[in-house]
Amino acid sequence: MKISISTKSFAQLPKKMKSLKISDSFAVITDSKVKKLYGDKLVWNLRKNGLKAEIFSFPHGEKSKNLGTVEKLSNSLVEKSFDRASCVIALGGGVVGDIAGLVASTFMRGIPIIQIPTTLMAMLDSSIGGKTGVNLKAGKNLFGTFHVPETVLIDPYFLKTLPIRHLKNGLAEAIKYGVIQDKKLFNYIDHNIEDLLKFHLEKLEKVIRTCTKIKTEIVEKDPEEKDLRRILNYGHSFGHVLEKRSDYTLLHGFAVSLGMVLANQKAVEMKLLDQEDASCIKKLLKKAGLPVYTMHKPTLKNLIHDKKTTQNHVNLVLPTKIGQVTIKKIPIK
Ligand SMILES: NC(=O)c1ccc[n+]([C@@H]2O[C@H](COP(=O)([O-])OP(=O)(O)OC[C@H]3O[C@@H](n4cnc5c(N)ncnc54)[C@H](O)[C@@H]3O)[C@@H](O)[C@H]2O)c1
Ligand SMILES: [Zn+2]
Repeated sequence: MKISISTKSFAQLPKKMKSLKISDSFAVITDSKVKKLYGDKLVWNLRKNGLKAEIFSFPHGEKSKNLGTVEKLSNSLVEKSFDRASCVIALGGGVVGDIAGLVASTFMRGIPIIQIPTTLMAMLDSSIGGKTGVNLKAGKNLFGTFHVPETVLIDPYFLKTLPIRHLKNGLAEAIKYGVIQDKKLFNYIDHNIEDLLKFHLEKLEKVIRTCTKIKTEIVEKDPEEKDLRRILNYGHSFGHVLEKRSDYTLLHGFAVSLGMVLANQKAVEMKLLDQEDASCIKKLLKKAGLPVYTMHKPTLKNLIHDKKTTQNHVNLVLPTKIGQVTIKKIPIK
């Protein structure tokens, strides 16, 4: 998987697509909002450069992340004569990336995909590593595949139009990377949080570069989440329950923020983590404008539909200090 990060590369995309020599027929999958902002322009530009390009969109937001959307998109691809030689471009946030990834991995038994992330969440996390998926009634991301993108093209300039709450949403995952693996990154975010919240593109780019590097290294060592990759789920077991409970009105990163605080509480309870480190993490989440308190704390039993759970125990990712985590198998009583 190649990752390229460069600003203001949008106009250069058709040239880049040609030089990659993956295909000359592109199905651009996006959501209703990104279509208007960037999607139509991209398709026009690809066509102008002699490439086949069509745009396929669905209503923006987590609620579209279901099998119905995947089916509709796949039917539309057939109607527009896309075939095994075609390539999908996922242009958008994590929702677009996860849905388009699933379409690409199953359409005609699998065609290549290029990820062009447009949210911070997608740039530093969801576009990397090839996890695809949609939600089922029973829970989040329960239906999906692994389908590694041919390439990920990251242009932080897209963030210029991102609403602030979606910037905060992405910062939650960035803080997660700091806690699981990189104290220096955690401190960098801490010291620069005000500028980051003001969309300081160079500083955001530095955070993106560090997070993508961490994720790539982890994913390369454990592509199918058999072992090491599970540490990326820090905050996600509790987070997924909260996200689903809110009927997906709570943003993923906001739910993960609460999930990290709950995991930390458990780690302090089990004497794995100092109270001081737990407070430090909570403080940074708060400074980043993320929630740290919920009245509706999930119990371990509530995690039953989580992929990390079996009937009798739950695997929880728990920090031991900032920059280090461990995975504990905890019995469900
Ligand atoms: N596959 C993975 O490894 C992985 C990792 C982390 C998160 N995820 C998934 O990612 C999803 C969350 O992703 P997200 O936070 O990017 O949400 P999202 O895709 O819904 O995007 C958030 C909102 O921002 C809009 N938007 C996107 N780019 C924009 C831009 N440049 N300017 C203005 N508006 C823009 C979108 O239309 C949407 O309304 C969740 O479903 C989560 O499960 C997947
Ligand atoms: Zn996540």
